[in-house]
Amino acid sequence: MKIAVIGTGYVGLVQGVILAEFGMNVICVDLEQNKIDSLNKGIVPIYEPGLKEIMDKNVEAGRLKFTTEVSSAIKDSQVIFIAVGTPPQEDGSADLKHIISVAKDIGQNLDDYKVVINKSTVPVGTGELVKNTISHELNLRAINIDFDVASNPEFLQEGKAVQGCLNPDRVVLGVESNRALDILNKVYHALRVRQVPFVVTDIKSAEMIKYASNAFLAVKISFINEMSRLAETVGANTYDIAYGMGLDARIAPEFLQCGPGYGGSCFPKDTLAIVNIAKKNNESLKIIEAAIEANVLQKQHMIQKIITNMGELTNKKITILGLSFKPDTDDMRDAPALDIIPALIKNGATIHTYCPQGMRETKWRLSEYADRITYFDDEYSACENADALVIMTQWNQFSILDLDKIKHGMRDNYLFDLRNIFVTDNNVRNIFKYFPVGQK
Ligand code: UGA
Repeated sequence: MKIAVIGTGYVGLVQGVILAEFGMNVICVDLEQNKIDSLNKGIVPIYEPGLKEIMDKNVEAGRLKFTTEVSSAIKDSQVIFIAVGTPPQEDGSADLKHIISVAKDIGQNLDDYKVVINKSTVPVGTGELVKNTISHELNLRAINIDFDVASNPEFLQEGKAVQGCLNPDRVVLGVESNRALDILNKVYHALRVRQVPFVVTDIKSAEMIKYASNAFLAVKISFINEMSRLAETVGANTYDIAYGMGLDARIAPEFLQCGPGYGGSCFPKDTLAIVNIAKKNNESLKIIEAAIEANVLQKQHMIQKIITNMGELTNKKITILGLSFKPDTDDMRDAPALDIIPALIKNGATIHTYCPQGMRETKWRLSEYADRITYFDDEYSACENADALVIMTQWNQFSILDLDKIKHGMRDNYLFDLRNIFVTDNNVRNIFKYFPVGQK
């Protein structure tokens, strides 16, 4: 089966590579010539463990190609995945301009029956918008060609994307014809035979499953973060609270880790978008609105915790370990570090930092604070002469740090462990003035 995947961001690139791994003939399309040139040289533009190996293997097998030629890719394919970005606009609603532009391209180049599948996270009703846009272009060409639109939202987690796509918890298919369903079943044959659960529904429900899932997970994180603030005040231990709650199968242990607030390219954007969709439909989603507010408060609480315990920050050096919104990614979109670092600087601190993958992006995102941030090549040199150490992201390599060595090089010994990676280490409290999240 010939498949075009339009958009080579996190979702599109991983999807294209994995579909090739499933035996499909895939052409990944992007308008950015530089990106396609790099991909054609075997350079993966994002940091995603395991992706390059599978990409190289499938390019070599001749199943995976990269191009900027949208029209020939559309004409040559039976299935077209739309995987372009849907960034938030001022009011929180998803900007659909890239989706519409791809739908126009499809309408202008459609020459035979094809299935057009939305992989991007899109508001309810976007399937219809794509369909109408393609039909409009066909009308302008005064031709009538049959096509189907479908929705197949992506649930991959950055940093674990390859495994997530090879072994998903479920595949959601929103379809409106058996013909499209038959084709999608062939596309995902490799998962069907492994008995991965498939949810086959209408397009609008599929679109909403994606938003509902992300919003629910964001609520779960904000819930435990609120519990952690109360636990700190009353002297309880959130680590044990989350463990105790999570053992109830109805609650489940995942996404109950308190921290500096959720970030990334999905939860902040998608929670705002679904609230916006509700408003446009004269509904209000109070729980999700509260989760968004709690997430803002959680970041402020982290800043306040540092200031309250360290006092005046002027002339204080604070080392931040980890910048990306989570480990195993270079993605800095909506990372808590982008709010917390500027606040510490505005309160007088200078920042020393090291992150295995997030520094390149942080340099341009926080360029206005460049004279107050120094980037280091490793964790130990970043901690030299620091007054405080803040663990912002739980990269594995930080949990095996030699704490005595770190402390030895520091000027003072505050340790703010915003990811609780040392919370079960009894010795940490002997070495540092230790402040985890969710414990007094
Ligand atoms: C999220 C969803 O988990 C995916 O299922 C979905 O496909 C994706 O969004 C998307 O819409 O594309 P992702 O943003 O890659 O995936 O990362 P997560 O692992 O979900 O983490 C999101 C944020 O929540 C991070 O800032 C993380 O540190 C935070 N988090 C996560 C917590 O604070 N506590 C937890 O217990 C779990």
